[in-house]
Amino acid sequence: MSAGLPIAGVLTRAEAAEMRRAIEAEPWIDGNATSGAQSALAKHNRQLPEDSAVAREMGGRILDALGRSALFVAAALPLKVYPPLFNRYGQGDGFGTHVDNAIRIRRGSDFRIRSDLSATLFLSDPDEYDGGELIADEGAPIRLRAGDMILYPASTLHRVTPVTRGSRLASFFWIQSMVRDDAARRTLLELDGAIQALAATHGQSDPRIVSLTGVYHNLLRRWADC
Ligand code: NI
Repeated sequence: MSAGLPIAGVLTRAEAAEMRRAIEAEPWIDGNATSGAQSALAKHNRQLPEDSAVAREMGGRILDALGRSALFVAAALPLKVYPPLFNRYGQGDGFGTHVDNAIRIRRGSDFRIRSDLSATLFLSDPDEYDGGELIADEGAPIRLRAGDMILYPASTLHRVTPVTRGSRLASFFWIQSMVRDDAARRTLLELDGAIQALAATHGQSDPRIVSLTGVYHNLLRRWADC
C-alpha cells in the first residue's frame, strides 16, 4: 500500500456535494496554520480554521462515514482519527515534497495521535480542476472522484502538484492504527480479504474458514496496541 489504497464512495455524491457547499461558504485561512516548520516552506493552499463550527460538524460526518466503511476499518485498523481538516488549492497553489508530522496535537486540547496513515478525501471531481495531483512515494498521480478517499502510509514522502485551473477541495486527516507496522497491517488486510472471499463461496461456518478467522484474530492480538 505504499502507493496508497483508494477507497471509493466513503461519502455518497450527494453527501460530498452538500459538504462542499457548506465549507465553500466559510472563511478560509492560510494553510500554514497546521504545518510544521519544514513543510510550511513548501505549502501553498487555504484551509478552514480548526475551530470552525462548520469544519467540526462536517468532520464529524466524515468520522461517521469512516465507521461505516468496511474497507477503511479493515485497512486502517483505526485506533484514533484526527478530526478531519479541510483544504482548498486554488490556481497556482500546491504543496511541495514533504513528510507529515509524526505526532499531531490538536490545539487547545489534550488530543494527540501518532500519524501512521494519512488520508485525503476528495470533495471536488477531477474534471473541475487541472493539476492538483497527489503524488505519494513517486507513484502514479492520484485524482479521485468527489466522495472517494486515498489512504497511504504517513511515512511516505508526498506532494500535491500545482493547480493550473479551477480549485481542488478536500478533507485531510491522519489515523493512528492499532497496528503500527505498515507491513503487518497490509498482511492483515490481505488475509481478511482472502477470508471474506472464501466465506462468500464456502460459507462462514466452513471449519477451514473458522480456523483462518482464528489465525487473523490471533495475529491481530499479537500485533495490536490499543
Ligand atoms: Ni502531507
